[in-house]
Amino acid sequence: MKIYKSINEFNTLKSNLPALTLVPTMGNLHMGHISLIEAAKKVNNPIISTIYINKLQFNDKNDYLKYPKTIDADIELLDKHGCDFLLIPDDSILENILTIKAPDKSKKLCGINRPGHFDGVLTIVNKLFDIVNPHSVVFGKKDYQQLILIKDFIKKNKSNINVISAETQRDVNGLALSSRNNLLLKEEKLIASKLYEVLVSINKNKNILTPRLLDKKIEYLNSVGFKVDYLTACDTNTLEESFEISNKDILIAIAATIGNIRLIDNMTLSKL
Ligand code: PAF
Repeated sequence: MKIYKSINEFNTLKSNLPALTLVPTMGNLHMGHISLIEAAKKVNNPIISTIYINKLQFNDKNDYLKYPKTIDADIELLDKHGCDFLLIPDDSILENILTIKAPDKSKKLCGINRPGHFDGVLTIVNKLFDIVNPHSVVFGKKDYQQLILIKDFIKKNKSNINVISAETQRDVNGLALSSRNNLLLKEEKLIASKLYEVLVSINKNKNILTPRLLDKKIEYLNSVGFKVDYLTACDTNTLEESFEISNKDILIAIAATIGNIRLIDNMTLSKL
């Protein structure tokens, strides 16, 4: 794997590169990220990953400072799984950066308690698209709202880029893989898998999908130690609240905190 340690270094060489598939990350990589690399392999381009901890998308400065840095292990993992290029941008990436204002659907779900987060995400991915000029990009469905906002942004502004959506990876208990899982105590990790249990149970009961069903699940999760931020049924595209499962697929999205760790997950229920 060829590593570029600055944007300048990458810029001087990029004219010689073929069409690329981009997998942007913030490092601290795990098998969830590797599944993005595997999804990237389905398009027959060399794969470039980026590692950049984007301070623009953190609402909490401490969260940013605490973000785990595991660059040596990250490089080893990417290399082992067949990533061809790695760009590790320096902070010059933020110089004269064009700020992207995310549209209103960024204010729903995670946007309610993380104002500005998706502006930060779109701002940095737009800059990465400009630097790398990818043929295709890969994002995971676990960050569903991020995926939808990026898809919309690309459709409107960079319609030549092909977006690949990668399935959520889970541990044996169903917990969606996330860098944040490393911060959970052993017993918290077991409780954390109840998020998935709840999504599965809502899916089984989708013929009675009502606010009351979701309220009962929130009560349950709070009783086992979570503080639920939201558990919502919504349109898979607009993210507007919707229970109309007889007409269309519905997204169930959840965010909840255990200890101090905020976890998210989601499931798309197919229409009745
Ligand atoms: O999903 C992530 O890891 C980040 O939000 C991304 C897309 C790399 C932008 O910083």
